[in-house]
Amino acid sequence: MTKILITSALPYVNGVKHLGNLIGSLLPADVHARFRRQVGDDVLFICATDEHGTPAELGALAAGQDVRTFCDAQHDIQAGIYRRFNLSFDHFGRTSSLHNHALTQHFCRRLDAAGLIEARNVQQVYSPADRRFLPDRYVLGTCPHCGDGGARGDQCDHCGALLDPPELIDPRSALSGDRTLEIRDSRHLFLRQSQLTAKLNAWIDGRTGWPPFVVSTAKSWLTADLRDRCITRDLAWGIPVPRDGFDGKVFYVWFDAPIGYIAATQEWADAAPGRDWRTWWWRADDVSYIQFLGKDNIPFHTVSFPATLLGSGEPWKAADVIKGFHWLNYEGGKFSTSRNRGIFTDAALEELPADLWRWWLIANAPESADTDFGITRFVADVNKDLADIFGNLVNRIISFAHRAFDGSIPAGGTPGDAERRLADELELRIAALRRQHEALEFRAAAAATRAIWDIANAYLQHAAPWTAIKTDPARAAVVTRTGLNLVHVCATLAWSIVPGLSDRVRGAFGCSDAVPRWPAGPLAALLDGEAGRAIEKLGPLVEKITPERAGHLAARFGA
Ligand code: MF3
Ligand code: ZN
Repeated sequence: MTKILITSALPYVNGVKHLGNLIGSLLPADVHARFRRQVGDDVLFICATDEHGTPAELGALAAGQDVRTFCDAQHDIQAGIYRRFNLSFDHFGRTSSLHNHALTQHFCRRLDAAGLIEARNVQQVYSPADRRFLPDRYVLGTCPHCGDGGARGDQCDHCGALLDPPELIDPRSALSGDRTLEIRDSRHLFLRQSQLTAKLNAWIDGRTGWPPFVVSTAKSWLTADLRDRCITRDLAWGIPVPRDGFDGKVFYVWFDAPIGYIAATQEWADAAPGRDWRTWWWRADDVSYIQFLGKDNIPFHTVSFPATLLGSGEPWKAADVIKGFHWLNYEGGKFSTSRNRGIFTDAALEELPADLWRWWLIANAPESADTDFGITRFVADVNKDLADIFGNLVNRIISFAHRAFDGSIPAGGTPGDAERRLADELELRIAALRRQHEALEFRAAAAATRAIWDIANAYLQHAAPWTAIKTDPARAAVVTRTGLNLVHVCATLAWSIVPGLSDRVRGAFGCSDAVPRWPAGPLAALLDGEAGRAIEKLGPLVEKITPERAGHLAARFGA
């Protein structure tokens, strides 16, 4: 049994995520985890909320809550949404856990012992009124480029310019409005990544199966002279730095967040007896580890986090494959949390079942380039693929079985040429689909899944049991038997992408196994089997999105 460790980039805890975040890491990771379970692999699928840093602090401030209370509530909200999207995490943890505190401090000590940590003075904005250092984005002022009054110390959202706080005209504290800001020295720890360039290059060169743009992005960071990274911050919320003179400082969120993958596995192990996190992370040469993430996360996963792992000198598991994604755009522009633009995951579930979103997003995953989400196209695609093609296939043959064969898989008759050709074709298609899933080619896998539905529809259209029943009941029995088994196979193959629809169909067949096994063995026998099994009636599998409803979606989501 192959051991597959799967992690999805950890969503920031502050606020509900939009569909772009979902397809950028969480959803494809889930589809792959499900597929791997179907083929019998030993899968561990880990995620967590990323709870430190300024986003959490600012979110709490805006909500008028202390950070811990804010994170507790936000974590639960996101966990609930992901459950309703059917994301099958083995554990959904939190980077603020005690495990992550201990591990992060452990890594810092190991890196220090290896000579890879250096303390340096850094100039920082200090607010006497707030009596604290201000992170870049806590400093507001007028943009020197466009004159916008609401620019932040890291960036002007109005014109997009990247800034340093001293460049702002008339700077003030975002917390108190204090205008008496000073520049003061503050002592910080740097991870000497530059010492690890050769090791990191060798590590990347030894991996295969990464999307080319991930490799090239990683290499562009590693060939440019790799800058040492400041891994501490002057903040109250975070993991304390275990070092004299560093009271009141915490680790930089991007230092502790990926360590959270390991810590969340420790949380998973704590939750039930007989689980050992070490078998996944420590000397785990038999584990194949795949990371899913959006392209902005690539440097942290190809440079910083592996630098932490390799630099520790301990036998930690580093990623074997990094599956990066481009952006999903929204109606020709960007999804944006700060501007509330796009479809948020909670709102999506208020409107339509999870599988409709899952299907479209996977079928259009931004794998090799940015991709645009548009309501009109979404509605047309979902109606066609799920209602016209898959839904029709399922509903038509089950209804017919109830009209003509008392709702059971009929016995009798012998499969002929059409059935043999169908079985041969399906065997090839299923093998190809499996290869696409294995290669993490999500769009191709969705297209191949749909092509199998097309073949099933074409078979039934041609073999027409509803006509045969009038003259040749034995033939009608063969076709109905084949058709029903075919529908069951189609549902099994689609399970990783649309688990809700798949479970409904499989439920009608009396299957309640939590994970449907990938079809194995000669397909001809499979399609000819199960005579006598009762199939429950099924209402329409997928309701079409009406033009009125499409109009409502367009109005609500500002298309
Ligand atoms: N929270 C980050 C983001 O949304 C991702 C963190 S991934 C981690 O971009 F591994 F570092 F946690
Ligand atoms: Zn500007």
